[in-house]
Amino acid sequence: MTWHGKLLAQFSRTWRYSSGAKAIHCRGHHTVSRLAADIARAATSAHQYPRRQAMSSMTSPSSARRVDLRSDTVTEPTEDMRQAMLSAPVGDDVYGDDPSVDKLQKTAAKMFGMEKALFVPSGTMGNLISLMVHGWQRGSEVLLGDRCHILEYEQGGIAQVAGIHPRAVKTLADGRLDLDDLRSKVRADDVHYPVTSAICLENTHNLCGGRVLKPDFIAETSKVAKSLGIPLHVDGARIFNAAAALHVPVSELLVGVDSVSVCLSKGLAAPVGSVIAGSEEFIRKAIRVRKLLGGGLRQAGVLAAPGLIALEVMSKRLHKDHILAKHLSEGCHSMKELGLDSNPEVTETNIVFFTVDKAVCGYSAGELVDILDKEDPSVADESGKRFLLLAFSDTLIRAIVHYQIGPADIEAFLVRLRRTLS
Ligand SMILES: Cc1ncc(COP(=O)(O)O)c(C=O)c1O
Repeated sequence: MTWHGKLLAQFSRTWRYSSGAKAIHCRGHHTVSRLAADIARAATSAHQYPRRQAMSSMTSPSSARRVDLRSDTVTEPTEDMRQAMLSAPVGDDVYGDDPSVDKLQKTAAKMFGMEKALFVPSGTMGNLISLMVHGWQRGSEVLLGDRCHILEYEQGGIAQVAGIHPRAVKTLADGRLDLDDLRSKVRADDVHYPVTSAICLENTHNLCGGRVLKPDFIAETSKVAKSLGIPLHVDGARIFNAAAALHVPVSELLVGVDSVSVCLSKGLAAPVGSVIAGSEEFIRKAIRVRKLLGGGLRQAGVLAAPGLIALEVMSKRLHKDHILAKHLSEGCHSMKELGLDSNPEVTETNIVFFTVDKAVCGYSAGELVDILDKEDPSVADESGKRFLLLAFSDTLIRAIVHYQIGPADIEAFLVRLRRTLS
């Protein structure tokens, strides 16, 4: 039995949703470059992908007959969160009167090693507010990775809403920015140019497959930013996944960082919200911008209370998702002869990309996603369930492991894949 098999077997005894997982053996020879090329292709065709799921998938309530691997945004609040929502003390947070929001913000600031924090409705708004604060001056420009979420999936909000010009920097396969490219794109003080007002990183990096930015790279980027007098923002929607993968506190990943946006509603399972953090002055301005964008909430304590559980409790279980994601990646890699492949070596957190070779298996990524989205009536066991995923291109599928996915789900998914492709 492999190491992950043993872990999985152990998990299957203790996991909430488990039922006796078996080990799956993987073979060697990873195709790093092919996978990286596929992911890069997916990023360039992001206007089309990820393919939207049929409305039935998007709207139906959770069901015993489906396993939702589309995103960790599908996590539902835990029982403790629901109880906390019921009993949360509240007040009008626009007046700063909500004790639950206050507690969440103080806890977040401490965990992140920042002076102050602010509860905001979403990760998209957290990034937008942060960059509007850094880009306070008209004619601002932000340097950000050419495959980052802010550029690809936030509707160009910094341009559309805030009039900030985005300038893309080359992203390496592991989610780091090419720092030479970054340096070359910082604007000189010249009337022809916008003013470089912020540099952005994404940790973990979604489109790069949940890759983790390590403290040495963050320190290097911070050094560049500081030497140029430009603030450094981190889109840390999944920064707790990075911290879990590296076994370090989140604050260690924010040394030398001026602002961060962290999602409570992804793998941490809170129903709503993100927290941004930075200096006292940054948060003072952020409160103004949040109100402008309609993000000033009133009795928000009912949302902050589960957010606090997300930070204090749920952040400590993310390594379980990472083990299962690695297992899933290994399982896909072991189906190479059937037309699937993945690279377990670069599966560092809860995001798994795998490739589909139509010439071998007869399906494009989208076609395979559609098949897996339907129950298999001929099978009564777990593997007959619907499995929901996202196709990122004709050849690339993404699966994300989260709180509501257990070892038995991954096992059943691999069985279903093998049966479908055989
Ligand atoms: C890296 C990253 N940043 C920001 C966001 C935006 O978060 P939200 O959906 O809460 O607006 C996401 C959402 O998936 C994300 O993956």
